[in-house]
Amino acid sequence: MQDQSARYSAVAITLHWLIAGLLLANIALGVWMHEAIDIAASRGLAVGAYQLHKSLGLSILALVALRLLWRLSHRPPPLPEAISRRQKWLATGVHRCFYLLMLSVPLTGWLFVSTQWRGDIVLNVETVWFDQFNVPHLFNLHRESDSVRQSAAKLFADAHALLAFTMALLIALHIAAAIAHQWHQRDRLLSRMTFALHPNQTGGQRTAHWLGLMTTAGVLLAATYSGSSVFRSTGAEVDMYAAAISSPSGAWQIIPNASAIHFSGEHAGALFNGRFLRWTIDARLNTDDIAASQLAVAIETGSARDGNPLHDRTLPEAEWFDVARFPSAYYRLTRIEPRPPNGYALFGSLQIKDRLIEVAPLSLVLDGDVAQISGDVVLDRASIDMGMQSDPHADWVSAEIIVSIAASLQRPED
Ligand code: HEM
Repeated sequence: MQDQSARYSAVAITLHWLIAGLLLANIALGVWMHEAIDIAASRGLAVGAYQLHKSLGLSILALVALRLLWRLSHRPPPLPEAISRRQKWLATGVHRCFYLLMLSVPLTGWLFVSTQWRGDIVLNVETVWFDQFNVPHLFNLHRESDSVRQSAAKLFADAHALLAFTMALLIALHIAAAIAHQWHQRDRLLSRMTFALHPNQTGGQRTAHWLGLMTTAGVLLAATYSGSSVFRSTGAEVDMYAAAISSPSGAWQIIPNASAIHFSGEHAGALFNGRFLRWTIDARLNTDDIAASQLAVAIETGSARDGNPLHDRTLPEAEWFDVARFPSAYYRLTRIEPRPPNGYALFGSLQIKDRLIEVAPLSLVLDGDVAQISGDVVLDRASIDMGMQSDPHADWVSAEIIVSIAASLQRPED
């Protein structure tokens, strides 16, 4: 039967397995995304994977700091007598290397992203910890001169990769050694670090082990879930937000299920397709004297969603829609021209932020008491000053964004 004083505490065991699980996941994620970001087909997913990798990495850093504090205040159980001095010396050396690597790998990653530079590309990508809060850039590296940023980025990226691969090698050796001790030398070294319950444990120790096991399983499951959500975010979440489309009384009434305003473009090589969830359409169509008709659409810019958390969070910001100053964009009809047999071309302007632009004509088709309005408006980002600070040359987000409207309207009751 195992002597309980020769085992690690429940806290040490919990931190060990939590860190081990997250480390393995983050190494795999890091290797994948590093390749995927340069391939057009996977770039969209890789953008989300970078945020996940950074969030997991920073969490590992915090857990390692906790582990170090715990270790400094709680002596680990002594190694069994049967283990030779040379092996003990080796084990201590490997453990120290682990601590060094577990601190330096995330720190070099953090320093690298703080430069906001990758290869020849200047970045403007915040690190947002699990979509919750922005993590600051270290030492204001992003404010240094371009040449300092570029060389620092290369240095830290190379160091990050080298240290991470050294750690992967050390993990492999560590696992091999643990297996050899447990099943070959039969000194049950691995059992000291497991949650296995023992008959001679006190009630408190058993509870602590159960809690440790549940915490480890819970956190690893939550990390897996948040990882899978990155790979599921394709726009499907849009429907989770209640859409609110309306028409004022007396005007032609919108049929919500048959109406939508979409926007689409490309980000990091991947297509995105979202929609505005809240807008109103005030259509006063005069079928006896069509030229006397009026049409105005007000779109809440803060309701743009495409299901990608990074986009949904960035779009309201000052350099994109600047929702705080310009909460709505407005389309106003200026003139109607007939397009026989029962159609019309709607000429109008769009006021977006502080810009007023003429847009391509929309189409209006009248069919009894139902009117269909549809069309594509191509927005040139430069002409409406959108994303011009972070991506002036359309390296990441396409220069043109297409806004498509499809609205079905019902003639109002008299
Ligand atoms: C202990 C935690 C971490 C591990 C094990 C880890 C591991 C890795 C690995 C194996 C790679 C691939 C390297 C390559 O193939 O060249 C990588 C890339 C990367 N890591 Fe980490 N990392 C960790 C923490 C972090 C943190 C905290 C950050 C930033 C806050 C970060 C940012 C990055 C970035 C941006 C890349 C991509 C580099 C590029 O594409 O050029 N990592 N990481």
